[in-house]
Amino acid sequence: MKPLRIGLAGLGTVGIGVIRLLRENAESITARAGRPIEVVAVTARDPKKDRGEDLSSLRWYSNAAEVARDPNIDVVVELIGGSEGAAREMVEIGLSRGLPVVTANKALVALHSETLTKLSSEHNAPLLYEAAVAGGIPAVKLTREGLAPDRLISVGGILNGTCNYILTAMRESGRDFSDILSEAQEKGYAEADPSTDIDGWDTAHKLAILAGIAFSPIVFDSLPVLGIRDVQGIDLQFADELGYRIKLLGMARSKETGKIEAWVRPCLVPEKAPIASVDDVFNAVTTLGTFSGPMTISGRGAGEGPTANAVVADLIDIARGNELPIWGKKHSGPAIRCLPLTEVE
Ligand code: NDP
Ligand code: HSE
Repeated sequence: MKPLRIGLAGLGTVGIGVIRLLRENAESITARAGRPIEVVAVTARDPKKDRGEDLSSLRWYSNAAEVARDPNIDVVVELIGGSEGAAREMVEIGLSRGLPVVTANKALVALHSETLTKLSSEHNAPLLYEAAVAGGIPAVKLTREGLAPDRLISVGGILNGTCNYILTAMRESGRDFSDILSEAQEKGYAEADPSTDIDGWDTAHKLAILAGIAFSPIVFDSLPVLGIRDVQGIDLQFADELGYRIKLLGMARSKETGKIEAWVRPCLVPEKAPIASVDDVFNAVTTLGTFSGPMTISGRGAGEGPTANAVVADLIDIARGNELPIWGKKHSGPAIRCLPLTEVE
């Protein structure tokens, strides 16, 4: 059986998780994929760092672009992060070579959808990004495939594990915001720049991706975004007394007019609502469809294991030769602006 050969950049929380998962579950993954999936080429910033896994048999490159140009790989996997620089270059090289590209990078996918769509379409190169939205929850597959027959009215939910972890711990223990954020960073939940999480941008990136699949690509700059930086212990206490929880939500709704209203902001959620009890690092993806009705799926939204699982699920799809999404074939129209907040009902 010819293995699927992976060139991978980024050996942090997610990258090492992918290597560990491919090794620990090699037998069952091979059975499901129909052939072995092997990481053969890698890079990271510091080649000398001990990462707790033996990487000595892999081809090491000095940068991500070189990994993407390796003639002996079948798939490019980008797990560096950031919407520019090495991550963007690697993904663009991979797509331009006509190789399938897998990424967990929501900022890159949300902010450069137009360029990536064009490259993916021109070179017939699939771009897969299940891990980019809601960690271990198969949110992209659910929206793109599970709900494909339906006309969705809304999509969104709790899409950032770090913020939900902070809000939960503040409510339960009354501890300080910055202490809890440091804990989330130690656990590998937060982005390299954690203001991306707490100011709502990470939720916005994920929402833009989901809305782009469910409705139409949206102009990212038209999305109103408010994070949790100003939420205080007293706000959580008052919300509790009134029978609510405070959650950072990102929601997008398609109007009958064809317009899209979308926003990211901390919201009061009635305590009986299914997402009110989604706590800790868990995320919840909620959809409302004309035929499928309301649906809520929750699961771990960040961290090594769930995110690695989502990346490897994409690799299994590639290995099996499943029909993969080529961007640009479904959503070829230009991105549309979200309704301003003043017009949101
Ligand atoms: P980490 O910061 O843990 O790891 C980033 C890795 O990229 C490190 O190994 C780092 O090298 C390497 N790196 C940084 N800059 C470069 C560069 N210029 N060239 C090559 N390698 C480089 O990040 P995560 O693993 O947490 O996140 C990776 C991606 O996954 C991001 O896009 C993130 O948004 C996304 N993601 C993360 C989740 C999580 O729970 N952590 C969940 C879902 C998505 P070195 O180790 O030597 O510093
Ligand atoms: N920083 C992100 C979060 C990682 O906390 O949700 C998962 O996308």
